[in-house]
Amino acid sequence: MKDTALNVLRILEEADGPLSGEIIAERLGITRSAIWKQIRELRKMGYNITSSQTAGYQLTGSTSMLLPHEVHKRLRTKFIGKQMRYFDRTASTTWVGKKLADEGNPEDLHGMVILAEEQTGGVGRLGRSWASPAGGIWCTIVLKPNLPLERLFMITMAGSIAVARAIRKEYDIGALIKWPNDIFIGDKKVAGLLLELSAEADTIHYCLLGIGIDANILLDELSPSLKETVTSLKAETGGDVDRVALLARVLKEFEQRYLLLESEEYETIIREWKSLSLTLDHRVQIKTMRKTFDGEAIDIDDHGALIIRKDNGRIERVIAGDCYQL
Ligand code: BTN
Repeated sequence: MKDTALNVLRILEEADGPLSGEIIAERLGITRSAIWKQIRELRKMGYNITSSQTAGYQLTGSTSMLLPHEVHKRLRTKFIGKQMRYFDRTASTTWVGKKLADEGNPEDLHGMVILAEEQTGGVGRLGRSWASPAGGIWCTIVLKPNLPLERLFMITMAGSIAVARAIRKEYDIGALIKWPNDIFIGDKKVAGLLLELSAEADTIHYCLLGIGIDANILLDELSPSLKETVTSLKAETGGDVDRVALLARVLKEFEQRYLLLESEEYETIIREWKSLSLTLDHRVQIKTMRKTFDGEAIDIDDHGALIIRKDNGRIERVIAGDCYQL
């Protein structure tokens, strides 16, 4: 949002009643027609602003867009989301994060959140595409982590705990984590997370934690194959959810866990992840690049690999692949 529009918005937000264009113009030291232009911009962003010849402008309703100004009003974090980038539409917030981090200094971007209303080339796990229509929460958190390389996978664990906890707290829905880091409600996926790394030898340049949440998505708008396996918060709650409140909650929950990781409290995170796991202690089918097999998911190891006791009693360690609940 441009600074002038933001300044007009702030004045309207603080006002007790309607304010004339003249008063706003005077306060900001710009013309009345410039104010009118900004009011038009704010309305385009979804703000409800009434105007009358006699009384002036009044903010009567907020936007449902995921604008940084709105998220910041609710955000209670120390560093996550203090910097934000917002796009109506972009190919992928991951690509934006990569470009910013490659071209800038990742330390300066630590905690930045990149948001998009819609992604035209959303990326999922294992190189798959990720449907990202308007109404979802599509975001990437840029991190310059102070963690050992072998613990980086735990950032995704912290993220998936944060999403599951936020859904539980906001809507009292029993969201769980399906290995590796999918968020499920019942037997349907509602959110996915993806960690991208830029590292060389043992130096970590930066990490990008991508979070995709099917928030206000109409299931009918999804492809027939997705419709069978995916749900949305709108479908689960029966109405549009407050995406700003949910995102602010996810970021807060994530920051708390991320700070635990930086304090080497790995066990706390593993314990919480296990307590929210849909996979552990269940029979599953595993599909890797090389094979498919069934068994019981008995544990995850120190590297986040899933430990399966196969039906023939043998133990298999799964680093990457798909896991289906049986
Ligand atoms: C998965 O396959 O489950 C992971 C999906 C991750 C999707 C998010 S949406 C925001 C960010 N940008 C992307 O293109 N992907 C991630």
